[in-house]
Amino acid sequence: MAIRRSLIAGNWKMFGTRAEAEHLLSALKTRIGRPTDREVIIAPPFTLLETASRLLAGTSICLAAQNLHWEPQGAFTGEISGPMLKDVGCSHVILGHSERRQYCGETDEQVAQKVGAARRDGLIPIICVGETLAQREGGETTALISRQVRTALRQVQTNFSSLIIAYEPVWAIGTGKTATPAQAQEVHAAIRATLAELSDRATAEMVRILYGGSVKPDNVDGLMAEADIDGALVGGASLQAEAFARIIQFR
Ligand code: 13P
Repeated sequence: MAIRRSLIAGNWKMFGTRAEAEHLLSALKTRIGRPTDREVIIAPPFTLLETASRLLAGTSICLAAQNLHWEPQGAFTGEISGPMLKDVGCSHVILGHSERRQYCGETDEQVAQKVGAARRDGLIPIICVGETLAQREGGETTALISRQVRTALRQVQTNFSSLIIAYEPVWAIGTGKTATPAQAQEVHAAIRATLAELSDRATAEMVRILYGGSVKPDNVDGLMAEADIDGALVGGASLQAEAFARIIQFR
């Protein structure tokens, strides 16, 4: 089995002022030092990318945005492009988060366009997929997730191994309800099988698949013990330095 470097990413969503970001990042830097065997990414809102980029200079923590527009520039009021994100210091971008699908009407097709744009612009996409409770109860989970992954990767022909997928069951986001490690593992294995069909088994073994949805210090260890869970995409707990540091230091 290929060795995949563990990855913990913090999605700050629409939270934070510059003063709060400074406080949180300095507390985080003190607590985590320079982890060598695991990768750390933070994804603040657009307004904090410049501040975070400055505060993270010289650390091993990478910077992600929470969205992008697929055009590199143009008359798209209110949008932000990949080259702009690169310019401010981002290496990664979260795409297709369920909150964007739910509240902004983002479709699988748009996610695919954004994934293509991220790769064109030299950003590593963290592609989110996940089912609602009704879809899970209707037995649709595996088919739905496989469709989301296939569509999102429609424009990707090469270099699959650098992709990052995040499985975030919608019913587990911000609810305090986590998927059990076994439930998450089942979906992660299905995602890897889909990736193997789109590329090949060896490549699929290199792709990191993160779990997201109420990841906390007290459930991260169990999740990370599963074979196909390579990291976590953390929302609420990533806004607390102590909790996020403990998640990064999962055992
Ligand atoms: P919570 O950790 O707050 O459930 O959020 C998960 C999430 O949506 C990360 O992208």
